Amino acid sequence: MLSPARRLLKFFHPEGIPLPGTIAYNAISKTRVFQVNYEIIARDIIYYCPEGSILDIGTGPGWLLEKLHSASPNLQLTGIDISPSMIKKAKKNLAKSGLSDCIEIALGNASDILCSDNYFDAVVSTGSIHHWKAPTEGLNEIHRVLKPDGYALIYDLLSDTPLPVLKKSAREFGRFRMLMLWLHAYEEPFYSLKDFEHLADNTFFKKGSTKFVSVLCCLVLRKE
Ligand SMILES: C[S@@+](CC[C@H](N)C(=O)[O-])C[C@H]1O[C@@H](n2cnc3c(N)ncnc32)[C@H](O)[C@@H]1O
Repeated sequence: MLSPARRLLKFFHPEGIPLPGTIAYNAISKTRVFQVNYEIIARDIIYYCPEGSILDIGTGPGWLLEKLHSASPNLQLTGIDISPSMIKKAKKNLAKSGLSDCIEIALGNASDILCSDNYFDAVVSTGSIHHWKAPTEGLNEIHRVLKPDGYALIYDLLSDTPLPVLKKSAREFGRFRMLMLWLHAYEEPFYSLKDFEHLADNTFFKKGSTKFVSVLCCLVLRKE
């Protein structure tokens, strides 16, 4: 359950990133700190799903899909996003990298995924779930489209990232960037660690576990 202040923030926060936010986010996400983090997350995902098909929800500019493809070219990759302007950006970025033919990008909502049951080997999402207006429905949809034994890996920033995690990231990425990140945590409706840990309690997954991957917290869910 979000605090009343965060609930208010979430109420006014747009679900899909609209223009000109798309242009700003695309530019920021090209910086080293983001790109290194996409690589770290891609490695983490491949540990759980070394082959098969992966869906990335709220793919944004599509960089995570690019990193997943570089790390494991045989993966079948699909990205969806609720924002039409983000979809355009992702398609443009993938076209520039020559990956339009091997990675599918489509408009889509976490709460209503247009595919059959038990389809994907893994479903992932980075920095997106705090935008979702209906996270429980979204997690239930993920459960539906996942194959049995498949993993859902939901990565996001938290409103209360533990100090040791921030300090470790500050050593890797610099204190200034971590200070910016810490300030950023006050302007978006991020979950607290406690809320994040319990996000899946009322879903078909029933429970999940959390861990930190770089500066992001990952909710690990398995479909039984
Ligand atoms: C902060 S961006 C993160 C983009 C990308 N995953 C990354 O890590 O760079 C969050 C993205 O989630 C998308 N989004 C928000 N709510 C969504 C929903 N319900 N279904 C699908 N995408 C959503 C937004 O449009 C935005 O592109």
